[in-house]
Amino acid sequence: MLSLSKLLLNVEESKTMALSALITELKAEGKDVLSFTAGEPDFDTPEFIKKAAIKAIHANFTRYTANEGYPELLKAIIEKFSKDNDLHFEPKNILVSSGAKHSIYNVLMALCNPGDEIIYQSPYWVSYPEIVKLTGAKSVVIETHAEENFKITPMQLEKAITPKTKVFLFNTPSNPTGAVYSKDEILALTEILKRKDIFIVSDEIYEKIVFDDEKHFAIGSVEELREKTITINGVSKAYAMTGWRIGYAAGNEKVMRLARNLQSHSTSNACSISQAATVAALTQHSQEIVKMVIDFQKRRDFIVDALNRIDGIHCPLPKGAFYVFFDVSKFYGKTTDHTEIIDSSSFCDYMLKEEGVGFVPGTVFGNDKCIRMSYACSYEEINDGINRIKIGLKKLG
Ligand SMILES: Cc1ncc(COP(=O)(O)O)c(C=O)c1O
Repeated sequence: MLSLSKLLLNVEESKTMALSALITELKAEGKDVLSFTAGEPDFDTPEFIKKAAIKAIHANFTRYTANEGYPELLKAIIEKFSKDNDLHFEPKNILVSSGAKHSIYNVLMALCNPGDEIIYQSPYWVSYPEIVKLTGAKSVVIETHAEENFKITPMQLEKAITPKTKVFLFNTPSNPTGAVYSKDEILALTEILKRKDIFIVSDEIYEKIVFDDEKHFAIGSVEELREKTITINGVSKAYAMTGWRIGYAAGNEKVMRLARNLQSHSTSNACSISQAATVAALTQHSQEIVKMVIDFQKRRDFIVDALNRIDGIHCPLPKGAFYVFFDVSKFYGKTTDHTEIIDSSSFCDYMLKEEGVGFVPGTVFGNDKCIRMSYACSYEEINDGINRIKIGLKKLG
């Protein structure tokens, strides 16, 4: 066999996607499996968005568009940023890509050279370490824990910065923890960032899914950071449009030019029909999105309460996204006749094999004490899942 790319041999498959595929396979085999691994809303894409897509097809909006996205969509994105985030852009600052994951990849590729360092926190979104590897840069991970609500402090950030730091990769609301940084917490971090010569890439894909009195604040709107921040967003989570594959990035023209060039030689424009659907999503106010968030919040309350009633589990209250991330390490060292629970992976394997219930082990997010449970599913499923956890835990000696 001829040798393959050393870079790619070092990159792992997305573990959450692999787990979802395994669960789908088990279900197809007829096994009674309940999955809480989904990273997507269980709601349908709202009707008005689907209609816009169908209209685009009938209007033959089915050809290549401009690489960076067609003008009407760029306009809608510019208006969205201005209205929601106090971020002010021109078309040359925007790049529409095939999902926010693609946006993050394009932007980090545009920013980094081998040897550069990218700082982000753990628990982190599963794709960050692998995308960082693809850029040739090095991950510098700041650990956070439930006791600090999974948030970093300015001191931790300052300590992590070295002369090699190129990017601070920031994510609020967070996947997997649901942590939401308040405006004050962000401003405290920016006091450090203002003084340093580093870029900020801010992943705000869960912006719309925040609970209680939390408000999303865009770090790029801080005056001194406007030129240094590239903001990432998309429609997957807020509009239940994961399959449509639209994400977007906005920031410094020079950075965006490189990112556009990369895209022009790899995927070209994002799907034209999905772009038309995104214009509808971003410009037509819809109560459906508000209802979705209210429903997520109710489910969050229900699931956190139910989990905290189980002996040995403590589940922090997430303030956004649609995941709970809770500590199961009290069960490490426990055994049944044929299994020993030693870490988050063996815990999840056990629950899947023994009780037919799927969770994502925290280790894939850089925290081996916890597991992630998505509540993008019905109350019946949540109830059933919690019962299965209880039964599984009882069997452990
Ligand atoms: C934190 C975070 N960023 C980015 C993405 C990518 O979203 P998409 O590529 O579907 O737009 C996800 C998806 O799970 C995510 O959780």
